[in-house]
Amino acid sequence: MTEATAPRRAPRSRTVPSLPPGPPVQDGGDWSTWPTYEAAALGFRNFWYPTVWASQVGSKPYPVTVAGERIVLIRDDAARGVVRALHDRCPHRGVPLSLGRRQFPGTISCPYHGWTYGLSDGKLRAVITDGPDSPICGKVAVATYPVAERLGLLFVYIGDVPAGQGPPPVERDLPAELVGNPLVLGGRTDVRAGNWRFAAENGFDEGHAKYLHNTALWRLFKVMPTWNVTRVVDRDGWIVRVQDELHWDATFPGVGTFTNKRWWKRMPLPDRPGKSPKANPVIAGLDLPGFVSFRLPGLLRVAYPQFIHYEWYVPVDADRVRYVQLMVRFETGWRAQLFKAKYLAAIRWLFHGQFTAQDAWMVDVMDAPPERLYRPDLSITALRRHIEQAGVTIQPTEPRRGH
Ligand code: FES
Ligand SMILES: [Fe+2]
Repeated sequence: MTEATAPRRAPRSRTVPSLPPGPPVQDGGDWSTWPTYEAAALGFRNFWYPTVWASQVGSKPYPVTVAGERIVLIRDDAARGVVRALHDRCPHRGVPLSLGRRQFPGTISCPYHGWTYGLSDGKLRAVITDGPDSPICGKVAVATYPVAERLGLLFVYIGDVPAGQGPPPVERDLPAELVGNPLVLGGRTDVRAGNWRFAAENGFDEGHAKYLHNTALWRLFKVMPTWNVTRVVDRDGWIVRVQDELHWDATFPGVGTFTNKRWWKRMPLPDRPGKSPKANPVIAGLDLPGFVSFRLPGLLRVAYPQFIHYEWYVPVDADRVRYVQLMVRFETGWRAQLFKAKYLAAIRWLFHGQFTAQDAWMVDVMDAPPERLYRPDLSITALRRHIEQAGVTIQPTEPRRGH
């Protein structure tokens, strides 16, 4: 740590040392430097996305929109109650199937003329208003989507599944530490205003937390730095923000001083989560070089010594994002129960509520491009470069009409 009065160093190079050099930052420019990113208003295909809690879906159809695709979720009573996902549009006249009902076991019937589809394969099985010999049966189907229930959430696969094959395992798109470790979690899912890219960049943004969240109750007892010197490194498919310098207060010539220090606040954590002597063994075992990491298709991990906060930014449409927040502790027994109680009593409101509502506010009101980036935005450009280099398939922005 350096004293605030130390002379401020010259701006660092805008390239990220540990990643292959990318295109220069476009100050004041458009997003054409990042063509994949620019085109990905609805995210990417061939990924599993979390949607709603599994407990929210029963025998009543439940509509969700994921990456621009309208989907109906429903439990299949003919298959031990597993959740199925179908395209939420009746091929007959385009009525949402989510307005219909499970008229017969293992099916969903459109509310308009009673076209009735199998939940497992989407095939038209009966047409109530055309009699038992309706010749159209078997000739029409609605698309189905793979669904997996993990962490209490329903994950839906948006992508192309070759005939005769299944999708990749959902575990591919989950953080490895959430597979196989005993854990307890609390969480919240909301649909918020703004494009998913702004939400993702806000999550990985180096600059804002120290100023925007200065007023958050969650930060009432913890000092935050005024400014940092940061790098971004690649680690196991994630990009990670690494803090090289933390500056707790600063004097701005001719303007004044700024610090977040107050007499009642504790100085916070060391510069990486595993370094704390109180670190949970699972978290220490991750050996993360920094607190904040990001990976595709849009998942942020903020690791503290004793718990990890995750947030997924799931595109709904171009103007809305499903924001799925999880707080996880790798504990069992009474410690797990204690955490659940703490989550419901405080964390849910202070952190997953008021604190991240400040982020939602910014994501809603921001308007870019054009933009004029500054030194800490190396986190933003690293995220965009990560997307460009990942070889992902962009989700088309045309609404899906067919079946
Ligand atoms: S629109 Fe669905 S049955 Fe007619
Ligand atoms: Fe934030």
